[in-house]
Amino acid sequence: MDYAELLIKRRSIRDYEEKAVPLDVVKDIINDSIKAPNAGNRQIWSFMIINDKNLLKKISDSNKNAILRGIERNPNSPMKVYEERLRDETYNVFYNAPCAVFIIGPAKAPTTAVDCALVASYFMLAATERGLGTCWSAQGGLIRDPDIMKELGVPENQEIIAPILLGYPQSIPPMPDRKEANIIKIHGVE
Ligand SMILES: Cc1cc2nc3c(=O)[nH]c(=O)nc-3n(C[C@H](O)[C@H](O)[C@H](O)COP(=O)(O)O)c2cc1C
Repeated sequence: MDYAELLIKRRSIRDYEEKAVPLDVVKDIINDSIKAPNAGNRQIWSFMIINDKNLLKKISDSNKNAILRGIERNPNSPMKVYEERLRDETYNVFYNAPCAVFIIGPAKAPTTAVDCALVASYFMLAATERGLGTCWSAQGGLIRDPDIMKELGVPENQEIIAPILLGYPQSIPPMPDRKEANIIKIHGVE
C-alpha cells in the first residue's frame, strides 16, 4: 500500500467484523509502532493487549457510568454532548471491537503523552497497512474503577494514554473533511 493510500485508508473505524485478530498480528503491529520517534529514544511506552470482548464490555459499562456521573455533577462538562449516546445501552465505547491495545506510560514523565501519541499514530498506520481498522477511544481510557485497574494490571504510577481499538473493519468510511491547514506565518522566502 503506498503512503497516500495508507493515509486515506487509516480512518477511525466504529464497526468491526466478529473475526478475532491473531496475537502475532497484534505483536507485529506493536513492533512496527515502536519505530516511532520519541524523546531521547527512552521508549517509555508499554502496551496492554485486551483480546477479550467481555472484559472490554465490562470496562465500557463502568466508564459510561463514571462519565454520566461526572456529567450529573457538572452539567457544563465537555462530555455533556455525548450524554444521549452514553445513556444508550447498546453503545459500547469500544464499538464491539474484538481487541484493544492500551498504550501506557509513566504518569509523571513530561513526554509521556507525546511519546505515547506518536507510537499510537504509528500503530494505527501499521494496522491499516495490514487491512485492520483502529479507533482511538478516549472514553475507553477513562477508567475510574480501581478494581478494573487492578484486574487489568496497569502498574502503579502508570497511566493509559492511548486506548486503541483493533479489528477487521466492516467498511472504511470516507475521510471526514479537514479544514485548510492554518499556516499562521511563513518566515523567509515565500
Ligand atoms: C485523542 C483522541 C481521542 C479520541 N476519542 C474518541 C472517542 O472516544 N470515540 C470515538 O469514536 N472516536 C474518538 N477519536 C477519533 C476521532 O473522532 C477521529 O480521529 C476524528 O473524528 C477524525 O476521523 P479519522 O480518524 O477517521 O480521520 C479520538 C481521536 C483522538 C486522536
